[in-house]
Amino acid sequence: MGLRTMLGLKEPFHVRQSRLATALETSAELPDMTLFQNRMISNHVRDLTFVDVGGLWGTNNEKVTLALQSGAKTATMADMQEMDNEWWQAFRRRAAQLNVSGYAEKLVNLDDPRVHEKLGTFDFVHCSGIVYHVPSPFYTIQRLASLTKRYLLLGSMVVPEVIVTESGELRFDGGQMIYIPAIGDRERTIVAEHFNGVSLSVAHINLASNEHFSRNGEINYGPWWWLYSSKTMKRMLEDIGFKVIEHAPAWEGRSHYFFCEKV
Ligand SMILES: C[S@@+](CC[C@H](N)C(=O)[O-])C[C@H]1O[C@@H](n2cnc3c(N)ncnc32)[C@H](O)[C@@H]1O
Repeated sequence: MGLRTMLGLKEPFHVRQSRLATALETSAELPDMTLFQNRMISNHVRDLTFVDVGGLWGTNNEKVTLALQSGAKTATMADMQEMDNEWWQAFRRRAAQLNVSGYAEKLVNLDDPRVHEKLGTFDFVHCSGIVYHVPSPFYTIQRLASLTKRYLLLGSMVVPEVIVTESGELRFDGGQMIYIPAIGDRERTIVAEHFNGVSLSVAHINLASNEHFSRNGEINYGPWWWLYSSKTMKRMLEDIGFKVIEHAPAWEGRSHYFFCEKV
């Protein structure tokens, strides 16, 4: 079986026109090239195989089109959403509007212990918006490591090392994390005040929710499971076997991106 067939590529991929020309012809939002995460992709992905794990949902944040526009050899969208649901359709519409084609599509759960067998391995792995939505971030990043041949670009929501609100102080330095399913009332109040101040609405914190975290062993990847600082996340990446080459806050410090190389 050839590589193209293995990746599920139905036709040779190509980017038909330059991004500038595309911008004139499409209503799809183009990536902001001043953003750290977009620069890391466009500066390093040329001639590499690329996968965006969990790139659907809020499709304007997907990186498959940027990777192909930046000269990636192949690009794959991998997500646990049911194939052909509205998010896959929105992604395909966006790619078509940007005149990008030839990407592969895969339905996988990143937490599957065999994810590297089902998906394959890639020179450049992008994953943002997932690792604080999982019960075991260290395990999930290990799965990302199993997919990564060279680069991992990981984006995660983070909290400051110290949060001070009118209800008190909460520390996330020294490796302290909060497991949201077990969060206490005092901690919830302080985090809620902080999130209100930065216009974030998070279930079980400052957004009322009956959503369960897990039921009969079935994990719900919808809610946030963990709160941690960027320093703690960086240490996890290093302990899993990545060298963090560069990292930067995003969205005014609400999230953080780590550009890593496997060592
Ligand atoms: C919060 S959105 C993040 C979307 C985008 N990457 C971003 O940063 O805005 C989460 C996406 O990841 C997918 N996802 C969540 N958990 C996943 C898992 N364990 N395996 C594969 N995809 C997952 C969801 O289906 C959804 O499309």
